[in-house]
Amino acid sequence: MTFTSPFKSLEWQNDRLRILDQTFLPEREVYADLDSAGQVWEAIKKLRVRGAPAIGIAGAYGLYLGIRELTNLNGFDSFYRECKRISDYLNSSRPTAVNLSWALQRMMDVIYAKKDQSIDELKQLALQTAKTIHDEDRRLCKSIGEHGLEIVPDRARILTHCNTGGLATGEFGTAFSVILHAFHAGKLEHVWVDETRPLLQGARLTTWELQQAEIPFTLNIDSAAGFLMQTGKVDLVITGADRITANGDAANKIGTYTLAVLAKEHDIPFYIAAPYSTIDLKLENGESIEIELRDEDEVTHFGNKRTAPKKVEVYNPAFDVTPGRLISGIITEKGIVHPDYSKSLRTLFQD
Ligand code: MRU
Repeated sequence: MTFTSPFKSLEWQNDRLRILDQTFLPEREVYADLDSAGQVWEAIKKLRVRGAPAIGIAGAYGLYLGIRELTNLNGFDSFYRECKRISDYLNSSRPTAVNLSWALQRMMDVIYAKKDQSIDELKQLALQTAKTIHDEDRRLCKSIGEHGLEIVPDRARILTHCNTGGLATGEFGTAFSVILHAFHAGKLEHVWVDETRPLLQGARLTTWELQQAEIPFTLNIDSAAGFLMQTGKVDLVITGADRITANGDAANKIGTYTLAVLAKEHDIPFYIAAPYSTIDLKLENGESIEIELRDEDEVTHFGNKRTAPKKVEVYNPAFDVTPGRLISGIITEKGIVHPDYSKSLRTLFQD
C-alpha cells in the first residue's frame, strides 16, 4: 500500500531540525527551527515534540547539534567525553521512553567505532546516523502497519489512546499505522479516540491526524472506554508504548493499563504496537521502568483556567505499566509476538 503523511513532524532542513510544534495543535500549524542541543532538550521537555520514536529521532539530531559546536578539543578522548556530556543532558529531558536513550546510545556507539577518524569526519558521521535513525523509523512504522493488518477483523471498531501517529514517529505511527493500513485495506469501520487526560494528545492530535487521513472516528472521554466496551462498540484496542521490558510489560500513556484491564473483562483483544527501538531487553520487568511525574498544573488547570482549589495535593504520573499478561500480542516491524514474551521477544530481537 502506498500512501504518505500530509505533514512532517520532524525534518532536517537548512542545517537545523525543523519540528511541527505539537503544543499549538490543533489550532495552528507552527514550525520551530532548532539549532542547539538546548533547544532540542526544551522541545522534548515541553512536549513540542513528543511520542517515543519521535523523541528518539529528535534526541539524535540534538546530539549532532550539540557536538557540531565543539571546538578546541584535544583528540578523540576529550571529544568523546563532551559527546557523552551532551548525550546525558539530552537524555535527562524525559525518562520513560527508552527510544531516547536508545537513539543517543546508537549515536555514541557509531562515534566510538570510528574513533580513528578526524573530529570533523565524526561530526558528519553523527549527522548521518541521526538521518539514518529517522529514515529507519519511517520504514519500521510502515512495516508495523502492514503486520498489524493480520489481527484486525473485518469492519473493525478500534479504540486507541494518546497519539501514536506520524506526529509521534518519523511517519505513519505505530498503533496509528495499523489503523491507517486497516482503513486503506477496507477493514476499518470506526475509531474510538480516548481524549487522553490531562494533556489531551487524543483530542488534540489523534483527531487532527484522523481528520487529515479521512478516517471515521468519534472522540470520547477516557472514562467512557468501559461503557463503550460494555455496550459492544469496540472490537479491538491498540495502543503504542514507550518502553517494553523483556517479559512484555509495557509502559505507555497513563490510562493504558486501565484499558487493558477493561479489555480483559470484556474479552476484547488488547494489542500494543511498537518498533524494536521501544523494546528494552535489559529490563526484566516493568517494575524498574522510571515513570515520569509531571507538573501539577496539568491537573489543577484546564487550559489556563484553574479547575481545582489552590494548594491541593496532586499526583500526575505521565505513564503507567500494563503487565504483559494483559497484552494479547505486540505488533512489531518483524511480525507479531505473543505470550510468553520472555521467550518470544528475545527470540525475535536478541542480536
Ligand atoms: O507524553 P507523550 O505524549 O510523549 O506520550 C506518548 C505516548 O504515550 C504514546 O502512546 C507512545 O509514545 C507511543 S508513540 C508511537
